Amino acid sequence: MKVLEMSDTSARIVSISNRIAVLSNDLKNNLLDMDANIKKLKLLKKDVYFDYVGTARRNYQKVLAEIMELDTRRETPAGYWRHIDQNFGGHIQSGISMEQVMDEDYIGIDADVMSQWMAVIVVARKDNENRIEQALIQINHLSRQVIRNCMIGFGFSIVVGIMGVWFISRSIIVPLNKLKSGLKLVSDDNYTYEMDITSKDEFGELAAAFNDMNRQLKADDEIRSDFIATLSHEIRSPLSSIRESVNMLTEEFFGPVNDKQKKFLTIAADEIARITSLLNHLLDASVLVSVSGAKKRPVSPFDPNELVQSAISSITPGAETRGIRTKFKKLEQPPMVKGNEKEIMQVIINILDNAVKFSPDNSRVDIRLTRGPGKHFLTCGISDEGPGIPEDKKNLIFKKYYRAREVREHMDGVGLGLNIARRIVQANGGEIFVENKPDKGCTFSFTLPVC
Ligand SMILES: Nc1ncnc2c1ncn2[C@@H]1O[C@H](COP(=O)(O)OP(=O)(O)OP(=O)(O)O)[C@@H](O)[C@H]1O
Ligand SMILES: [Mg+2]
Repeated sequence: MKVLEMSDTSARIVSISNRIAVLSNDLKNNLLDMDANIKKLKLLKKDVYFDYVGTARRNYQKVLAEIMELDTRRETPAGYWRHIDQNFGGHIQSGISMEQVMDEDYIGIDADVMSQWMAVIVVARKDNENRIEQALIQINHLSRQVIRNCMIGFGFSIVVGIMGVWFISRSIIVPLNKLKSGLKLVSDDNYTYEMDITSKDEFGELAAAFNDMNRQLKADDEIRSDFIATLSHEIRSPLSSIRESVNMLTEEFFGPVNDKQKKFLTIAADEIARITSLLNHLLDASVLVSVSGAKKRPVSPFDPNELVQSAISSITPGAETRGIRTKFKKLEQPPMVKGNEKEIMQVIINILDNAVKFSPDNSRVDIRLTRGPGKHFLTCGISDEGPGIPEDKKNLIFKKYYRAREVREHMDGVGLGLNIARRIVQANGGEIFVENKPDKGCTFSFTLPVC
């Protein structure tokens, strides 16, 4: 503001001084005109020169008055102009007549006076030029100062802007990202994430609420798992007694049984076997805790081709009863995979089990091992010709106890197979995902790190 004010003042000085420079030139010319025309009048005695003298005199007075008025507008008036008016004003003789001029004794403006007069005008004009120069120097200096201030201001704004962006990213984006990762883990049934936001703002409150929710979900999950484990354990004991009793009856331990009784005993034995398998599967839920890394799990290198082959062999009898064929495309020169062999076998069996369970009779299940993604992983893909997975259910199928509505009534299962598979794959450093095939069926793929 100060700089602008000073610059304004300097510009005003330049403008006044420029005007004075023009006017002072007129003043000098009118004075010379006056002197020259007096001389011409005396010599040539023509009226017209008397008029010229009058015009030059009036112009001189008008111009000088204007210069003095402009001079007073300056902060430090020059004073030369007032001096010219006071010291030489008397030589102008405003009311003089033509006869007086023509008189022998009248000599006009004395030559000495004239040269002093002109000298003072020259000094005054010089002073005026100096003032213009000083004001221009001042303006130049001020404009450089303005540019410097602008540059400093610009640099300062950039620094403030960068700090603002940094502050916004720290205070909004970082907590939002943490929240996003936390929510992603919760949607994967992982309740171990604790958000470390301690700020006193809305994000702090949100983080506290999130951590409370996580703790509550974790506690609920543990209660549910414990309950299921206890329940299945409690049911398994009486169930084995029933199975033993049925076996003894079938084997005619207590006397002969007829064919009809045998038939019903076989049905009972089959159903007992089915329920026992379901209970075993449910008990696997307690395995999940160890899979998430709480306990030490044995990890060793193994051949993936061999592992996949033995998983296929274990489901083949069941698949063949429905005319489902399996085709395995092995990996040429397979690298060794590092992981828990038993757990990974469980993953392949769970996926193959589903492929067989949800495929139509006489269809085909393809199993394929490939290198990638990247150098450090291999991928196992299992494709079937079943109904596929609806797009909006792709995330749900990996959740505990989820089973599609269509399969609930007429198919066995508790909805744990894929959840267990995902936990095992993640605990072994891989990822699992599903894609629908363009025609029919879907492909479940999982990755594993190679040695
Ligand atoms: N290959 C598949 N084709 C079509 N739907 C599938 C397939 N695999 C899984 N699903 C769907 O995903 C759900 C969850 O599968 P998951 O293996 O977890 O449970 P389940 O097979 O029903 O029971 P469980 O495996 O515990 O015996 C299934 O109920 C089914 O709706
Ligand atoms: Mg299953």
